[in-house]
Amino acid sequence: MDSNIVLYRKYRPKNFNEVIGQSHIVQTLQNSLKTNSISHAYLFCGPRGSGKTTFARILAKAVNCQDLKSGEPCNKCDSCQEIMASKSLDLMEIDAASHTGVDDVRALTDGLRFAPVKSKYKVFIIDECHQLSKSAANALLKTLEEPPDHAIFILATTEAHKMIPTIISRCQRFDFRRLHAKELIKKLEIILKKEGIKYEETILSLIALNARGSFRDAESLLDKCISFTSKDKFISLKEVKELLGIVEVGQISEFINLIVRQNAKDAVIKLNLLVEEGIDLQEFSKTLIFYLRQCLLLKINKDLVNSEESGFSDDEIKKMEEQISSLREGELQKILELFIEAENKLKYTTIPQLPLELAIIDITHKES
Ligand SMILES: Nc1ncnc2c1ncn2[C@@H]1O[C@H](COP(=O)(O)OP(=O)(O)OP(=O)(O)O)[C@@H](O)[C@H]1O
Ligand SMILES: [Mg+2]
Ligand SMILES: [Zn+2]
Repeated sequence: MDSNIVLYRKYRPKNFNEVIGQSHIVQTLQNSLKTNSISHAYLFCGPRGSGKTTFARILAKAVNCQDLKSGEPCNKCDSCQEIMASKSLDLMEIDAASHTGVDDVRALTDGLRFAPVKSKYKVFIIDECHQLSKSAANALLKTLEEPPDHAIFILATTEAHKMIPTIISRCQRFDFRRLHAKELIKKLEIILKKEGIKYEETILSLIALNARGSFRDAESLLDKCISFTSKDKFISLKEVKELLGIVEVGQISEFINLIVRQNAKDAVIKLNLLVEEGIDLQEFSKTLIFYLRQCLLLKINKDLVNSEESGFSDDEIKKMEEQISSLREGELQKILELFIEAENKLKYTTIPQLPLELAIIDITHKES
């Protein structure tokens, strides 16, 4: 029956105890719920797919739950049920990305004057709140200066630096961090088990690598795998690679080897071979940059890289180290910068591999 629901919605945690990672945030929020010391404004900052919306909804349930136990919403009372069915009149969610105007904020804050319909609090979740227009942000600020007792604001953003500081200073701020590979894998395992799907173990780290710290991306990659393999309920490594145009560490590593050896010709050939095999160049460059960043961290200090966080195995990390042993920190930095530049240009060229080819030439020439 729910086979059509995308994984990230189906497996969105409904409670704090279903959440993986972000334990510093869970603890602080639960403590304040237990001691009933709730703020009127929260700011959730952090990268894509790190749990901001998830936490906002759990918190919204918790503050109005009629049977709150050790800081967890019950998910059974009227209030929890209504929120889960998106029918609650006391929870308003707006996506500032599509409702940027002052009227939208006004409509929202107008609702503020009225006490909650059934619950203790009226909760306003404003997603992507850095996208509010200037006048809308000012209207919001006014409200935050004197919020009525029954109002709670939860602002979520991927780009806190774009928000006006006076709003930020009125909120209790929580910084969500990018997830470690180990945490992403834990969630993937839970989903695969619940869906009754068998798989080759290596697909987990491959998906985690390509999700680069986002639960949302990890889940949507897995979603694609599952829909491709719906018949035999088995996901093989080969399928994941073929179907998703996903990038493997081995491919990146070989490519870097050629770059380090300043072999422009073979690097360009390798790149074009990958393109012919149907690799997604956007994905390739993202993973390439992710890999090079780990290399740079390794160069700065070995302790900065470990397999649990990065998702690279100890062997892969060792290989990386050997690979970059002949490079100086500054050279590595330059390579990274050139590939970042190339990534930014990818969208705008008609020959998709061209920016990367130019970067290869730039790098191999500079080095000589
Ligand atoms: N801490 C977590 N533990 C387990 N699953 C999580 C966690 N955080 C996120 N997820 C999963 O990832 C999905 C996306 O998370 P969520 O919508 O909360 O991210 P977000 O930070 O709001 O991202 P965006 O900036 O893209 O809106 C959720 O539906 C859930 O399945
Ligand atoms: Mg969100
Ligand atoms: Zn409840």
